[in-house]
Amino acid sequence: MNFTGAHILSISQFQRQDVDQIFSVADRMEPYALRKRVTRVLEGAILGNMFFEASTRTRVSFGSAFNLLGGEVRETAGFESSALVKGESLQDTARVLSGFSDVICMRHPQEGSVADFAAASRVPVMNGGDGANEHPTQALLDLYTIARELKAKGRNIDGLRIAMIGDLRHGRTVHSLGKLLSLYDNVQVTLVSPKELALPEAIVENMRSAGVEVSISDELNNSIANVDIVYSTRIQEERFTSKEEADLYRGKFRLNQAIYTQYCEPNTVIMHPLPRDSRSDANELDSDLDNNPNLAIFRQTDNGLLVRMALFALVLDVVDKVDEYSHEVRWYNSRQN
Ligand code: CP
Repeated sequence: MNFTGAHILSISQFQRQDVDQIFSVADRMEPYALRKRVTRVLEGAILGNMFFEASTRTRVSFGSAFNLLGGEVRETAGFESSALVKGESLQDTARVLSGFSDVICMRHPQEGSVADFAAASRVPVMNGGDGANEHPTQALLDLYTIARELKAKGRNIDGLRIAMIGDLRHGRTVHSLGKLLSLYDNVQVTLVSPKELALPEAIVENMRSAGVEVSISDELNNSIANVDIVYSTRIQEERFTSKEEADLYRGKFRLNQAIYTQYCEPNTVIMHPLPRDSRSDANELDSDLDNNPNLAIFRQTDNGLLVRMALFALVLDVVDKVDEYSHEVRWYNSRQN
């Protein structure tokens, strides 16, 4: 695809070679993300970071990625601090904000809302999560992490075995990741959820038609026995009609070090899009896994910076100018010690 000026709305818009291109640019962003060098390539550019639903890492990661390329960030967080509460349409919001910004990142609780917004925007829009639909940049950073974890073992994404666990019905990260894995060969996916929270049938069918071997289970322990990646997800309480309904499923698939040691192959990688629900009635990834070197959850968040920097560089067409507008770091860098 031609990235220049493109909206990033869904994994469905990518072919495998597009993903390869994003990952190759992401690799080149590492010196800047690690503060070994500074680039000012986006000096003067403005990111409109519009988050109408709770977020820590996606919002700050988009903002930090843009800052690391030298751009400025203007932010709105929550409906209550935007004119949407006064009845302004998403389309008018897009018409206004695209006059202020060079690119806009947006999260919104309604499925399809970011695409509607993008249709009225004069600048590229990136989907930071639209309801229970998709979270394409999370899937890209997840797959980038998977590629890096496998590369360390002399493997690549083809032939991957992964278990995706939890609220697969509402979890937009697994919707996007399932679509993304369909671009690769000989992938085996085990879907582990209560049947009420199963991955939407249309996504399962698409994966199967693309050649992914999909198996379905509602039991954790044996499902994680023969996989390279355990990808756990949170019960998406905000998508249920009540907390009581979410409580029916919370805590059903807890992974801790004892279960990991008993059931997983050595060096099985543990992933989660985060936030993990660490409350005692959920505890989906126990803190006793925190010292397990195969816990990749914070490598995922670090990799998210690289992938989002790559997307900005591609969409704003500065990939080949990033190094030209760079200089050395002047401050103390704790990452190098
Ligand atoms: N993974 C993710 O979307 O996290 P946030 O909700 O904190 O952005």
